[in-house]
Amino acid sequence: MTDKELYISWKKGTLTSSQAWLRLTGNNASEETARKYMNALGHYLHKDTVERKVIGVFGDTHIPFHHPNYLQFVKDTFEKHGVTDVICTGDIFDFHAISRFQSEPSAKSSYDELDMAIENGKEYTDAFPNVIVVKSNHDAIPYRQAASLGLGERFLKTFNELMELPETWVLKNAHIIDNVLYKHGDNCGGKDGALNAAINERMSTVIGHQHSFAGCKYVANYRDIIFGMNVGCGIDIDAYAFAYGKHAKYRPILGCGIVYSSDYAQFVPMGLEYFRGD
Ligand SMILES: [Fe+2]
Ligand SMILES: [Fe+2]
Repeated sequence: MTDKELYISWKKGTLTSSQAWLRLTGNNASEETARKYMNALGHYLHKDTVERKVIGVFGDTHIPFHHPNYLQFVKDTFEKHGVTDVICTGDIFDFHAISRFQSEPSAKSSYDELDMAIENGKEYTDAFPNVIVVKSNHDAIPYRQAASLGLGERFLKTFNELMELPETWVLKNAHIIDNVLYKHGDNCGGKDGALNAAINERMSTVIGHQHSFAGCKYVANYRDIIFGMNVGCGIDIDAYAFAYGKHAKYRPILGCGIVYSSDYAQFVPMGLEYFRGD
């Protein structure tokens, strides 16, 4: 009999409080004490059966320069951990060809890259129909370039229209769910960027953007414990769009994140079986 079944039997009056407590713990207690314990168990069980969200977080795919196995890795990881809601920390697309930085000589044209990005993006929207996406520097490139010519949003397609994303992919500046903040992390540099962001925001915080410093770190005080998590990225490190980082001191880390609550999250690195595809 599970704890829940035992609790229901007690509620129905099939068992007295002391009998239920004895069955549950092997310990004797007075009827009055056992009743208090069983009521406390009820609160706990109720809390546990209220629909709990498990948030799956991925980001920095930089499509069409994403790792070919990243999506499968994310799908498998989310399924394994029982993910109920999906958040993307941004930089879904790269926009290399229209970036303000010098394009690689071998780079595809802006239209070719756009076509590839839209086509590859559909694999992600098929896999995850409902996603909250936070705004990010790379996804904003078309809008920043247009703004440099004085063209504001009224002159332009929305991000969803441009990249043919369903309306169920909702773009937000940042997002808070279950007391955890999700943002891209543009100004969260360094190894402890995510943790420092959490300290600054005074709440658990999840970021992407810093491709090389993935992981989850905690900080506690007398009152509570919070975490800062960087979910890494999903890029193809050999793509020409990342030639600029070829000799960087810290290499990109591919992975994704799972958030169970505001005091517990886990970074999952993409294993070599996905990375190498064997
Ligand atoms: Fe990025
Ligand atoms: Fe970024």
